[in-house]
Amino acid sequence: MRTTTAAAMNTAQTGILLPLPPLARYLTFLCEDAEHAADCLRALAEVADGERTVVGLGRSLLSALATDIDGLRPFPSLAGPGIELPATPAALWIWLRGDDRGELLQRARRIAQLLAPAFRLAETIDAFVHDGGRDLTGYEDGTENPVDEAATATAIVGAERPLLAGSSFVAVQRWLHDLGRFEQMPSEERDRCIGRRRSDNEELDDAPASAHVQRTAQERFTPPAFVLRRSMPWAAGHRGGLVFVAFAASFDPFEAQLRRMVGSEDGIVDALFRFTRPLSGAYFWCPAMRAGRLDLSPLRI
Ligand code: HEM
Repeated sequence: MRTTTAAAMNTAQTGILLPLPPLARYLTFLCEDAEHAADCLRALAEVADGERTVVGLGRSLLSALATDIDGLRPFPSLAGPGIELPATPAALWIWLRGDDRGELLQRARRIAQLLAPAFRLAETIDAFVHDGGRDLTGYEDGTENPVDEAATATAIVGAERPLLAGSSFVAVQRWLHDLGRFEQMPSEERDRCIGRRRSDNEELDDAPASAHVQRTAQERFTPPAFVLRRSMPWAAGHRGGLVFVAFAASFDPFEAQLRRMVGSEDGIVDALFRFTRPLSGAYFWCPAMRAGRLDLSPLRI
């Protein structure tokens, strides 16, 4: 059967599943010329290897191409007490993974040139691994991520959806930390915000319901809400925070977590909001790879 063969041949963009690189650069593009979008995308599919260059496509791009992907929906507009979560949709999201800032700059420039006939670079964010995998607050990030086969099953669409098998859905939010505010909290209060001890990363037995890991405990949702987080700290001048990046086979688990964070169910807001806010929020679909290239066949272009 054709569909089964397609599923067997497709693989995920491997950068999604690999450990974080030391450095990264996130590029966000808007589509300004729909007529040339398909050609630019085909050119990108040739150079994006899925490992060092991970690509996600937004809804506005798919509608420019007169196509869509089942499951790629708009980023939800959510709010909680005193909290607005911005939705900042974009046409293309590119995660450049590397270990040399000069090389990342050159790769970003080449890609921007290649896309220039149709796309305008709207945002560039430089990111990095901090202190062996900690958020800028000093807390280890990624501890409860699924690993190995569970990571693949969580992040990558399986053969039960043959057309999309090997692809993934990614939620991206750029959070800006108020580090001054965070540093003013006594260390026990900081631990209670996260729900883990910074010193040894142990979960607190008596964490309040507002603690971040209480809000987001993945197995405590019905159905369980697992995502594969691949977030990285970012910095520009004296500002910094986290580029939160969560891959999954659908947006349902991310959305369930986010709703609980803003208190949609019980009015309890995630204590993270005491010192950090998202500046952006967008959803993208990350095509599978086939024969070393992005597989654009589900788009019928
Ligand atoms: C600035 C923003 C954020 C920071 C600094 C942050 C930091 C952390 C830290 C330190 C942990 C504990 C260790 C770990 O398991 O990774 C954690 C866990 C987690 N976070 Fe976040 N996070 C942020 C935003 C988010 C958002 C927006 C979501 C989803 C909507 C999320 C989902 C999760 C999940 C699912 C866990 C694991 C919970 C569990 O199953 O125990 N985080 N985060």
